[in-house]
Amino acid sequence: MAPFAEIGCDVQHAAHLLENGELVAIPTETVYGLAGNALDERTVAQIYKVKQRPYFDPLIVHCGSKEMVHEIATFPSKAFERLAEAFWPGPLTLLLPRKPIIPDIVTAGLPTVGVRLPSHPLSVSLLHSLPFPLAAPSANPFGYVSPTLPEHVFKQLGSFIPYILDGGPCTIGIESSIVGRDDANHLVLYRPGKITLEMLKDITGEPVYKAGKEHKVLTPGMLKSHYAPTKRLILAESEEDAKRLLVSLGDAGLITFGNVNPSLLRATVHTRSLSEVGNLEEAACRLFSVLRAIEDDPVSAVVVVPVPQVGLGIAIHDRLKRASITG
Ligand code: TXA
Ligand code: MG
Repeated sequence: MAPFAEIGCDVQHAAHLLENGELVAIPTETVYGLAGNALDERTVAQIYKVKQRPYFDPLIVHCGSKEMVHEIATFPSKAFERLAEAFWPGPLTLLLPRKPIIPDIVTAGLPTVGVRLPSHPLSVSLLHSLPFPLAAPSANPFGYVSPTLPEHVFKQLGSFIPYILDGGPCTIGIESSIVGRDDANHLVLYRPGKITLEMLKDITGEPVYKAGKEHKVLTPGMLKSHYAPTKRLILAESEEDAKRLLVSLGDAGLITFGNVNPSLLRATVHTRSLSEVGNLEEAACRLFSVLRAIEDDPVSAVVVVPVPQVGLGIAIHDRLKRASITG
């Protein structure tokens, strides 16, 4: 194993390493993934090890074609077929009944496997050149913020993997929406993302529910505290609340969205904006970079002004909420 990962755009080299059972960080439109042959138990075990991820938290399997999906899973209803038709390739993961070809270690023993077809051109051409699908969780240590740049991966996992396929900054910046069926056979959006509840409902022809209290936590990624930086993050309820928190904390930083009251900005010298013009796409794209950047700011904690909870704002709010709960 190389002492430090090489960063490059060589798809053939990445494919060669993966064929030899090595791990490669790959770009997707959502976040970078830590990829390995999904059909090879030993490679998959290595993914858990490098990520320091518990074996009971299953991985998403990335395919290059629908034919490949049919080799590893089945479509239990028309609704899933419609969703795949409408949103693949793209930022949607479907929890589908798995076929025996998928090793238990990939799904943590669950009867379903998370599947998606990514749309990033480099991951598409990589998947097309491989005879197997790729298991790939986000390429960050377990519980930490997902990477949206090759440098993010390099900083944390660079000494454990030989290659990072450089696809530039991720265009969406927030992990895929995850949809499955619950015990009552209802369609449920387990993790919000770029594909919103409304977009899903338009396609399925049946109701889709938000994951609620009645849904037991399926996996650690659905725990309240996840995607978290090491710095204390406090999600304010409003701009006034943010100002009150900054004054009482004394040396905290601020994360804003859109235009904010100048008196709020005067309450700290460390402000980072998710999007100065108040654009949710830009905010999603910058979210994880900003959460990484605050780690180096000389502040004891960071107060976050809430983003509007509409469209993509729901997914951004979800990640901020999980990142802001400690312990
Ligand atoms: O956008 C994404 O989804 C990125 C890129 C790399 O594709 N991947 C990603 O993977 O975010 P990861 O492992 O960081 O998050 C996947 C989430 C986890 O919370 C995991 O527990 C859940 O999906 N998951 C995977 N398979 C599942 C299954 N069969 N049932 C329930 N949850 C599952
Ligand atoms: Mg993750």
